[in-house]
Amino acid sequence: MSVAVILVAAGRGERLGAGAPKAFVMLGGQTLLEHAARAALDCPEVTHLVVVAPSSHLDDAAHALRPLDHADRVDIVAGGDERTASVAAGLRALRHEDGIVLVHDAARALAPSELFGSVIHAVRSGHPAVVPGVPVVDTIKEVDGSGRVTATLDRSRLRAVQTPQGFLREVLEHAHAHDGGPATDDAGLVERAGGHVRVIEGDVRAHKITTPADLVVAEQLLEC
Ligand code: CTP
Ligand code: MG
Repeated sequence: MSVAVILVAAGRGERLGAGAPKAFVMLGGQTLLEHAARAALDCPEVTHLVVVAPSSHLDDAAHALRPLDHADRVDIVAGGDERTASVAAGLRALRHEDGIVLVHDAARALAPSELFGSVIHAVRSGHPAVVPGVPVVDTIKEVDGSGRVTATLDRSRLRAVQTPQGFLREVLEHAHAHDGGPATDDAGLVERAGGHVRVIEGDVRAHKITTPADLVVAEQLLEC
């Protein structure tokens, strides 16, 4: 089964506040988009990369990816207003032979190629939906609208999940068709459609760049 990666890069990056969509922010001399695309394409099993870019920045995306020189493996399509709509746009661009689909956030620009390989391996081993996750270090409390704590969750049972998230194509397509409503990750849609999701060990480098402080952390990670 061939493996495609849908790389969602169509967000506005409002919390980063860099004055440009986040995928085009520079980190160590490359855009976040180039870092993420390079890691995906460095995974030998990935034969198709669908980059989902802001509709206003399709040419910029092509320009950012030019150093990669993998034109035959890469398609660039326009995203939507919400992340879920951007993933759906990526799904529409899949090729006939794409049987396993990974969805990855360009904002997790330093997720290593090996993490893509581990997710693919877990899907091939029989898990139809796979997410990388890391233990949570903070104590997580549930609160109501007034800020009153309603529960303290058992941290040992919690995982902070990352991308790339991997799926059998039909499972992801079914989840999006079943409920394309707002969701912060694709595994959440699979869960809402009644599917089972498996967590595998994540990677600190797959940390999401959301705020300016995260960009500082990413610069440090680059030097490791
Ligand atoms: N994303 C997308 N299309 C959207 C919204 C988000 O492709 N309409 C992508 C982002 O480009 C990012 C990933 O989804 O790679 C995770 O989203 P997030 O970290 O929230 O990025 P932004 O939406 O760009 O940031 P913000 O919410 O601060 O504006
Ligand atoms: Mg967002």
